[in-house]
Amino acid sequence: MQTILVTGGCGFIGSNFIRLQLETQPDQKIINLDKLTYAGNPENLADIDSDARYAFKHGDICDREFVESIFSENSVDAVVNFAAESHVDRSILDSGPFIQTNIVGTQILLDAARSADVPRYLQVSTDEVYGSLGAEGFFTEDTPLAPNSPYSASKTAADLLVRAYCHTFEFPGIITRCSNNYGPYQFPEKLIPLFVSNLMSDQQVPVYGKGENVRDWIHVLDHCRGIDAALRNGRLGEVYNFGGNCELQNIQLTKLLLEVLDKPESLIRYVSDRPGHDLRYAIDCSKSERELGWRPQVEFRDGLQQTIDWYLSNAVWIERIKSGAYLKFYEEQYGARMGA
Ligand code: NAD
Ligand code: DAU
Repeated sequence: MQTILVTGGCGFIGSNFIRLQLETQPDQKIINLDKLTYAGNPENLADIDSDARYAFKHGDICDREFVESIFSENSVDAVVNFAAESHVDRSILDSGPFIQTNIVGTQILLDAARSADVPRYLQVSTDEVYGSLGAEGFFTEDTPLAPNSPYSASKTAADLLVRAYCHTFEFPGIITRCSNNYGPYQFPEKLIPLFVSNLMSDQQVPVYGKGENVRDWIHVLDHCRGIDAALRNGRLGEVYNFGGNCELQNIQLTKLLLEVLDKPESLIRYVSDRPGHDLRYAIDCSKSERELGWRPQVEFRDGLQQTIDWYLSNAVWIERIKSGAYLKFYEEQYGARMGA
């Protein structure tokens, strides 16, 4: 049985990744190390909590002693590092936690994985490290790094640490960089779940600036399948891009959400722009297609409809996040059992 240490597994992409691993890899054991910040919700994995192949460790990737203890107590075959502060707007308000978790946390994880001779380490990164595109062109793995927000700067620093460890120590690292994910379990501060949840209760949706910024949308399970392919078949020291081949202006996406939910355009509210707002992201994934045999499978309209249906039938999940009730889940679920 192979053991993967997943960090940040109670977040949006990490929880989808863990569920997919357990569904598709019967011999896989997963250890999930998560700090349970505001974005970490153990309810995302409540359905697999009793699976004997799954173990949850409540802790911080910045806690060196704790991270080292996980490696000394377990034989870890691979690390997938999702743990991060992930919201651009929050990084503009306060970059401190981003520097701490995204940079220092990654360094601690790299040191511990290296000391334990872990055979494979995958850093989950973002297309935002490449900066912003104009009307034309695509990011390739060779596009120079030019981050524009404190979030993307911290992710870039982490990527450079992974690169340096590979170069200096022959560390077995791989970096993946993906565009904007959508799907179930995304925290309702990001565009799609925020707008869907607002529209579900006939609240206005705040479109930044003129809504002309372009993002390339990919279903979270396509991203997870890419990470799995890179982890198993990627070349050490390499970078792999993933994208959904689905560029949309924010206003186009907003109108699509209104259409699917049958809501009026009067619910659009244009608000002041995000400072330093990147205009356009678009990904060239030909290297991942060529080397990993990966390509996105979910057609955007289908994936969006399924995602909206998921939020509609999981209104309680959203409500518990908005009310803060989900923060009590961990204590109720694990407090007595683990003394946490
Ligand atoms: P998220 O905010 O939903 O989840 C982050 C998770 O990390 C949470 O469970 C949180 O509790 C945990 N965490 C935060 N700080 C931690 C710490 N110090 N120690 C341990 N756990 C900690 O994020 P997400 O959207 O699922 O993104 C996951 C990763 O994928 C991030 O590294 C992000 O940069 C990257 N990424 C995200 C997207 C996207 O569209 N969401 C796209 C490309 C890359
Ligand atoms: O590109 C990958 C990145 O995608 C990931 O690295 C980040 O972790 C993830 O959060 C996401 O970043 P974005 O900033 O692109 O996502 P967000 O959902 O915050 O915003 C998407 C677009 O919508 C962006 O152009 C800003 C705009 N927006 C966002 C919000 C929350 C609005 O117009 N109004 C909003 O209220």
